[in-house]
Amino acid sequence: MPAAPVPRHIAVVMDGNGRWAQKRFLPRVAGHKQGVEAVRTLIRGVSERGVEVLTVFAFSSENWQRPAEEVSFLMDLFLRALREEVQKLHSNGVRFRVVGDVSALGVETRSLISEAEALTASNTRLCLNVAVNYGGRWDIEQAIVKATADGDPMAFAHWLSFAGQPDPDLFIRTGGERRISNFMLWQLAYTELFFADTLWPDFDESELASALAWFAGRERRFGRTSEQIRDPATSPA
Ligand code: FPP
Repeated sequence: MPAAPVPRHIAVVMDGNGRWAQKRFLPRVAGHKQGVEAVRTLIRGVSERGVEVLTVFAFSSENWQRPAEEVSFLMDLFLRALREEVQKLHSNGVRFRVVGDVSALGVETRSLISEAEALTASNTRLCLNVAVNYGGRWDIEQAIVKATADGDPMAFAHWLSFAGQPDPDLFIRTGGERRISNFMLWQLAYTELFFADTLWPDFDESELASALAWFAGRERRFGRTSEQIRDPATSPA
């Protein structure tokens, strides 16, 4: 039997941290802290399976509207992860990138991001994109501004934050909501959408295996018919 197809690129909305904590009578931020553990497990799981790109939505353009203490906790958590995790990612062959409007982040955070991106730039095992102060509409707008300044607005796709990377094959959202929430709007056009009721901190190796098993059963048609997909002469690569 041929091996089950593995997505080249997985994009994840990690929802449900707050509820995970509240169920345990803990402050919401305890859920975010536990969420980082689930990110570690995910990175390990996808690296082992040969996924090329993993994108996680850590902080959206809209998350600034949360209570100030929660915003500052999330920023600190990210800063701490930059300090503590980047060497490990590097020794595991992971290329690290931040996607989003980093101009709103603190000076130290921005400088650690640049260092981490430079250090890991030639790693090829997995590319980890962390979306911070990111929104799909922001990305399209900033790309149009740059393309217009460059004299060819129609070429805006070249200026998107994910240019040069394959589009996600699989989108995973935990936490029970069935929506995209302004994530990768341009790139999700043909992505298979997997929604789990599991709260993000509980998304473990077996949950990843379930998502991948579901993905392996999907027929990806990219606008064609089933018959065309089964015929090697007309099937998309
Ligand atoms: C959504 O859960 C989660 C977030 C807004 C933050 C996700 C961030 C992490 C898991 C930390 C990632 C850090 C790094 C370094 C990659 P929610 O708070 O909306 O949960 P709720 O819907 O239960 O309230």
